[in-house]
Formats: sequence, C-alpha cells, structure tokens
Amino acid sequence: MANNQSQYQDIYDQWQNDPEAFWMKAAEQIDWFTAPTTCFDGDSNGSGRWFPDATTNTCYNAVDRHVAAGRGDQAALIYDSPMTGNGRQISYAELLDEVETLAAVLARRGVTKGDRVIIYMPMVPEAVIAMLAVARLGAVHSVVFGGFAPAELAIRINDATPKAMISATCGIEPSGVIAYKPLLDQAIEQASHKPDVCLIMAREQQDCALINGRDYDYADEMSHARTAGLKQACVPVKATDPLYILYTSGTTGQPKGVVRDNGGHMVALMWTMDHIYGVQPGEVFWAASDVGWVVGHSYICYAPLLFGCTSVMYEGKPVGTPDAGAFWRVISTYHVSVLFTAPTAFRAIRKVDPQGDLIRDYDLSGFRALFLAGERTDPDTLHWAIEKLNVPVIDHWWQTETGWTIAGNTLGLGLVDVPAGSSGRPMPGYDVQVLDDEGMPVERGTLGNIVVKLPLPPSCLPTLWGADDRFHDAYLRTFPGYYMTSDAGIVDATGNVFIMARTDDIINVAGHRLSTGGMEEVITSHADVAECAVVGAADQLKGQLPVGFYVMNDGVDKTPEELEAELIKLVRGQIGAVAAFKTAVAVKRLPKTRSGKILRGTMQKIIDGEAYNMPATIDDPAILDEIAAALKARGLLD
Ligand code: COA
Ligand code: AMP
Repeated sequence: MANNQSQYQDIYDQWQNDPEAFWMKAAEQIDWFTAPTTCFDGDSNGSGRWFPDATTNTCYNAVDRHVAAGRGDQAALIYDSPMTGNGRQISYAELLDEVETLAAVLARRGVTKGDRVIIYMPMVPEAVIAMLAVARLGAVHSVVFGGFAPAELAIRINDATPKAMISATCGIEPSGVIAYKPLLDQAIEQASHKPDVCLIMAREQQDCALINGRDYDYADEMSHARTAGLKQACVPVKATDPLYILYTSGTTGQPKGVVRDNGGHMVALMWTMDHIYGVQPGEVFWAASDVGWVVGHSYICYAPLLFGCTSVMYEGKPVGTPDAGAFWRVISTYHVSVLFTAPTAFRAIRKVDPQGDLIRDYDLSGFRALFLAGERTDPDTLHWAIEKLNVPVIDHWWQTETGWTIAGNTLGLGLVDVPAGSSGRPMPGYDVQVLDDEGMPVERGTLGNIVVKLPLPPSCLPTLWGADDRFHDAYLRTFPGYYMTSDAGIVDATGNVFIMARTDDIINVAGHRLSTGGMEEVITSHADVAECAVVGAADQLKGQLPVGFYVMNDGVDKTPEELEAELIKLVRGQIGAVAAFKTAVAVKRLPKTRSGKILRGTMQKIIDGEAYNMPATIDDPAILDEIAAALKARGLLD
C-alpha cells in the first residue's frame, strides 16, 4: 500500500539539512507562555536540552487550549471497560473540570512544582486525569504499571521520593479483582521513603481501609474541592523541566528512571500525530496498551490530547473479554480511525479466530490504519492483519527512552515501501547507523549495533532520574557521539531498519520489557539456590517467555518441583505477575566460559531449537548436553 507520492524523503531531508529550523517550525504547534528563541543547547558530545529558554505547561496544551478554542463538547476520553461492563465519555470541558479540581486537591495536600507523584492505577480515566493534574501543577508524575509487585513499587518510591501517591482500590483482570491497596501499603512499608499523602479512588468491586492522616478518599477530596470552589491554574514550567519519570528495565534489578521533559516532548508528539499516524484533530485514536507503559503515556494520554483527538481507554484484553471480536467492537462503536497496539495482541486474536470471522460482525469502514510496536512484527502476523483488515499495517520501532518512533512509516506523508520484517525508515530527528563492536560503521545489510547519532531529537531522555552517570554509562559511553539503543539489527541498502534482538539481557514478553538480570537477582536470593540463569525462550503468543535454570544447593531436601513452585512464587511476589515467570528448570551445572561467564546466548539457542556454534571458550561442552536433556525431560524441547 505504498504511495509513490510519499513526502517522507523530502521531509527527512528537510530535517537533515537544517534540524533547528525543522524543530523550531514544529514548535509553533505548541502554546508557550514564553516562546523558544533557542532551539537546542548541547554539550560537545552532542547531548543536551531542547528549547532551553521557553516556558509552557503540558496540561494547558492538552486540555485548556482546546476548550478555549471551542472543542469543549468533544469527547476527550472514551472509557470502555468490558472488565466491569461500564463505559464513560469525558468531554474536553469535563476533563478540564476534573484536572483543575484534582490539581487543587493535590495542591491543598501539599504538592507543589517539582514534587514527584507516583500513580499506581488501573486503566480508568482517573489515571489520565491524575497524570494531567500533576502536570498542571508543574509536578512530576511517575506511573507504575499495576502488574508490578510491591517490591518493584518500593524501588520506584525510593528512587522518585514522591510527596504523594494516587491509586485505586483495585485493578480488574480476567483472573479476578486485584486489590491494589494492600500492594500499595506493603510497598510503602518496604520503602525507606514515605509519601506524605495517598489519594485512593474507590471502585465498587473492592473496598479498602484508609490510614488516618495519610490516606484520603479520591471522591471525597474532589467533592470537597468542588464545594469549596477550588480550581488550580496551570503552573508555568521550563520546557526543560521534567514532566514525568517512567521506570523501565535495565540490566540489573534497579530500573532506569527515564526522564521526559515538557517542551521537547510536546513538540515531538504533536509532530507525530498527523505526519506518522495520519490523523486529524477531532478523530478518534486508540492505543490499546496501558498507561503504565510508554505507549500509554504517549498515545493514550499525551499525543491524542495535545492534538485535539479523542483517546480511547480500554480496560480489557484483545481476547476473552468476552471474545476475540472485542477490538472490532471498540473500533466500530467509537469510530476509531487508527489503532495502535502490540503484535502479541494480534497473535492472541488470530489464535482464537484464525479466519477473522468476528471481524465481519462489525462495520470497520472508518478504520484507516493499524500501527504495531513494542516488539518486532513477525511477517505472519503482519500478513494476516493486512489480509483480514484490509488497511495499512505499520510496524514502528521505539523505546521508553525516546517516547516516539525512531523508525517507522509515515501514513500522513504517504507511505513508503517497507519489506515485511522491517520496522521502516528513520524518522526526522534520528540519524540511525549500525556499528560493529569496535564502533566502526558496518556495510549496509550487515548486522550490528543500532545507534543514533547525537543529538537525539526532542522528547528523548535528557538523563535518568538522579543518575546522570548511569545515563552516560548506559547510553553514551560505549559509542562516543552516538546513543546506544541496545538493539541489534540491520539497515538495508534502501535505508529500511530491521530490529533483530537486544544486545543486553532484556527480553520482550507480550510487548513488555523485562530484565532477566532482575529475575536472576530474585532467584539467587532464595536460600536453596546456588546459581541461576534466566533466558528468553521464543513463544508463539507472547514473543518470548522467561525460562529459569537453577542449580540447587547441596543438601537441600526438596524436590525440583517443590523448589520450582517456590521460585515462581518468589519472582511473582518480588517482580509481579507481569514477569510471566512460570518455568524454572533444575540443572546440575550451568554452562560457562573458562573465565566463568554463563553462556546464556547458547542456552537460549538450545531451548529455541536453533543451531549453535560451540563457544570456543566453553569450560565443559558436556554441560550443554545436560541442559538439553533437562529441557527434554520437562517436555520443553523435542
Ligand atoms: N494489574 C495487575 N495485574 C496485571 C495487570 C494490571 N494492570 N496487567 C496484567 N496483569 C497480570 C495479568 O493478570 C497476568 O497475570 P496471570 O499470570 O495471573 O495471568 C500477568 O500480569 C501477565 O499479563 P499480560 O502480559 O497482560 O498477559 P495475559 O496472559 O493476561 O494476556 C495478552 C496476554 C497478549 C492478551 C496481553 O499481554 C495483551 O493484550 N497485550 C497486548 C497489548 C499491550 O498491552 N502491550 C504492551 C505495550 S504496547
Ligand atoms: P520499551 O522501552 O518497553 O518500549 O521497549 C523497547 C524495546 O522493545 C526496543 O529496544 C526493542 O528491543 C523492542 N521493540 C519495540 N518496538 C519494536 C519494533 N517495532 N520492532 C522490534 N523491536 C521493537
């Protein structure tokens, strides 16, 4: 479905010829309190800050200005929840009332500019209202995905040191109601930092006890503020001030606090809505993700609202709530123009409804395009989606660190031809290159480390929260002058980018980014485990699933089945259900190099049934046969 008239290359060239002119023009789409006169302030390495002399407020741009411009009656948010059977539409005028009231509540409870507020919420409109209210105050939100366990939440509390937390009594999953308040209480108990205030939104499915002097009922507080006529105006912030911190998996159990600024973030996201996603203000945009992930931040909350679209918040799954037609129901009911989700959702739908029979039950005539990200779109899924939906299906590659597309395709500028398996061409702002391990450019079509020449475009992380050194070490030090993406891949002769694998220990489970190193830390903390390795095994539905291999301590009087159950419980308790850790295989020894490095890559190839070369430095090749035998005994290998 490519378009010979695509303007993609012209626009990319425009950016490359004069990046500052390009971004200053894009910045005109934002309402500034003080407009930028300087585009970028960088250091000699190329890293730096966008629009350093401008002031603005993200909530003002996402809400107030649309009401002022006459968009007040348009739906800003459509909440659809097959989990509860409820739904609700919130107009821009109502959204303004909600956020100015909630911001006043937070201000009354002591939250001021620069303070951090952790949001631990299910997929309800109040999650987005909370994000915007925090932004309105010039404070900094950090949303934590509900599938993380208290220990993970505690790590984030200690790192972000929030003054306040906003949560709900429960999330609702197909497995049942998940009470959030006990998780919140446990996390605060475990954390050394204590928030002053917790605001708890009561859901009818679950009650909770409030702790006197710390916890307040969301609805009571809102109603008090309304009665008292409290409303909070937008607090001007510098474009370079942080809007949010979003924690993402790093190579250890300590997640990275990706910092997003206010100004550059808005400029980049606004640019994407018409150029990449090809939508217009007033249209309905649906990102079927969760506000706890970067896709949810950028495309459930900020970009659609900044652009004046209607954003769908869906509290449900692609299948089973109640069936594999759920996505088509939402698209047709609300006239969704563009859907953005992860390939795993489509693999789940296809598994249940391979012929796409349920698609025919709905009128999808207004549906224009499907965008996929979070993991590589395998060609099978791509072709199935194109055939069944008969719209362009666009894979695009990005990271929590960037907040928007590094490589993709531009529906709004006309699509370019992209081969299946590629996530498209670099977007303006990104000079994508491929380097070998010594930092030398490889020939086109050769696999290597994918890097982006500095400076990174607006919206990309300027640093990690409270960890400048870690930021430099993790992203900038290995290849001076470049941002290291930690993805390996290929750029072909035409410039198409293929993302093949991570170069670190991150695995991708159902589009969720998880650290195997973090899981290993938890498993080795078990008193009966001598050592362990976790690798990502290929999975038809979720892309990858973690599989643990562990060596039991001598003298432990437990069966492998007993210990496996304990380890699964431990990982679920420490990291959360989101880790999807369900397999731990007992082995006598782990394969290592002579210098003691565990050969995780080789283990992964064995479990995936792939051919592998015997590592030259392996200490004892017989161990690889033992690993294969252990997997066969468990039925995990043919
Ligand atoms: N609060 C509490 N627990 C949560 C949760 C939340 N907000 N979200 C997920 N969980 C739990 C689930 O209940 C599940 O627990 P279980 O092991 O007890 O079943 C576990 O975390 C894993 O959840 P999930 O990854 O959603 O797997 P699933 O098997 O329930 O569903 C898919 C599989 C493919 C249907 C689902 O992952 C999906 O819809 N993914 C596509 C969209 C997406 O969100 N992508 C992310 C980035 S774009
Ligand atoms: P996250 O920060 O959670 O969005 O995860 C980012 C990582 O997910 C990237 O570094 C890639 O490894 C992977 N990823 C995201 N989108 C794609 C894509 N379209 N194709 C291949 N990998 C992807």
